[in-house]
Amino acid sequence: FAATKAPSISTMAAEQENAGNLKQKLAKLFQLSLEATVPGEPDIEPLVAACTAKFGDYQCNNAMGLWSKIKGRPGIEFRGPPAVGQAIMKNLPQSEMIESCSVAGPGFVNVVLSKNWMAKNIQKMLVDGIETWAPKLSIKRAVVDFSSPNIAKEMHVGHLRSTIIGDTLASMLEFSNVEVLRRNHVGDWGTQFGMLIEFLFEKFPNFEDVNETAIGDLQAFYKESKQRFDVDAEFKDRAQKAVVRLQSGEQMYRKAWAQICEISRREFDQVYQRLGVHLEEKGESFYNPYIPGVIEALTNQGLVEESKGARVIFIEGINIPLIVVKSDGGYNYASTDMTALWYRLTEEKAEWIIYVTDVGQQQHFDMFFKAAKRAGWLPADDRQYPKASHVGFGLVLGEDGKRFRTRSTEVVRLADLLDEAKTRSKAALIERGKAAEWTEEELEQTAEAVGYGAVKYADLKNNRLTNYTFDFDQMLNDKGNTAVYLLYAHARICSIIRKSGKDTGELKKTGKIVLDHADERALGLHLLQFAEVVEEACTNLLPNVLCEYLYNLSENYTRFYSNCQVVGSAEETSRLLLCEATAVVMRKCFFLLGIKPVYKI
Ligand code: ARG
Repeated sequence: FAATKAPSISTMAAEQENAGNLKQKLAKLFQLSLEATVPGEPDIEPLVAACTAKFGDYQCNNAMGLWSKIKGRPGIEFRGPPAVGQAIMKNLPQSEMIESCSVAGPGFVNVVLSKNWMAKNIQKMLVDGIETWAPKLSIKRAVVDFSSPNIAKEMHVGHLRSTIIGDTLASMLEFSNVEVLRRNHVGDWGTQFGMLIEFLFEKFPNFEDVNETAIGDLQAFYKESKQRFDVDAEFKDRAQKAVVRLQSGEQMYRKAWAQICEISRREFDQVYQRLGVHLEEKGESFYNPYIPGVIEALTNQGLVEESKGARVIFIEGINIPLIVVKSDGGYNYASTDMTALWYRLTEEKAEWIIYVTDVGQQQHFDMFFKAAKRAGWLPADDRQYPKASHVGFGLVLGEDGKRFRTRSTEVVRLADLLDEAKTRSKAALIERGKAAEWTEEELEQTAEAVGYGAVKYADLKNNRLTNYTFDFDQMLNDKGNTAVYLLYAHARICSIIRKSGKDTGELKKTGKIVLDHADERALGLHLLQFAEVVEEACTNLLPNVLCEYLYNLSENYTRFYSNCQVVGSAEETSRLLLCEATAVVMRKCFFLLGIKPVYKI
């Protein structure tokens, strides 16, 4: 297949190149070409994808589809897909972006990008900032509902996953200039409070004066009270009455409830602080005052029906209904979620509402999203906004392949997990002789960044729907696809730049990037693809896509660095700028993944 210079037919190309990421820019060019190839043909969306083939960098895949649409029509002179491909290539507007094109196989149009154009755009990013590569989304405000542990119940590894994944999704949206309401939908309301409060009143007759340390481990009390509840009928009765007393606003019960929530909140906050995650609590109880109104509105719409004493919404295709008022007249998880969704759409004017929980809750979300569609709150078509999405994730498994638990307790305490990650990464740093080189503070900070980063990355790099095994040895390995490897790689790039003695802030303005060596070019292309990858990770709600990109970036860099001498070479300036661009993109990836970069190792 002979490569030809991209021929010129149109002149609108220059404008087309200014907006969007690489893929979108090319798609716009191909759009013009497709329109010229079959004039008047509606709805042909350009199918452009990065390709691994040796023919080019990107490929347009429209020829076959277009051929099957138009063959046999009067006036169509093409003889099969390859000819359509040839025409698409010929009609492609001339563009500075494109070095050459060729048609392969059944009509694939391959594009080789211009290395000068690539170099210029990387340099532009260095000067104007990585924000210029941020995705452009069509929405202004989103809610990410994540973490959301339950008060007095355990905050378990599932909540850790939700916290880590939710934080990343929120950061990616924020990077895309979307205002994100980061919501902690804490389980702070429910029947568990009845037994817990009754139990604590018994244990601490002067409950009001009781402080945090006396209460200590709320989880343990919760467990004890649950055991009582299950065997002691008198206690059970009292606990059930306590729920009513609490819900009707009896002061003593309210106060105890608030106290318990506060203690839990402080515990959760410690975890968030260590993880560097910021969110705003609007727990289940926040929506209580709005529930009756929402249920009434749904009832007036004729959506709520009576079933076995409860009030329910039937959903097409699902044989159990969504219960919105229990048979005892109380509200439940679904009543709150329907109301919270209403609140987020109408009061907070969010256009995309994203819920991060384990896949076990899939049906719950499926049901109330469908109920919201029936109510007309959400459009039936999921491609339209406002939109609600459930981001499900799989289990964390222990070495035995069963649900992750520590030896001593039934559940894993998150604080212990983080402690261990830090201790282990500190030990590894000391083994590398860093105790002698660094201050204690540097050692601590690096151990934290690496340890917590490792926990996060080990989670995020997997497709969230699959289960994964929690394994300290694996996640703290400095080789392979781990945060440790990536953080060290970044630190090494920084040290190369430092040791060169050059000021990259100056160089990026005066120097020039060239991508003559194949490994320079490959690295450059990968850097430029950052924009489309974040967009994909963000719109498909898949953090692992960004992790994969980051790992490949590091691999591309390593190839470049082993084959292209940087310091002391004739291309030193350009290569230092490539180092700098790699470090900038890596740092943005770390930031989006909630990982703190380290600068020396
Ligand atoms: N508290 C729930 C749990 O621990 C998660 C809440 C998720 N958010 C929501 N709006 N339902 O399982």
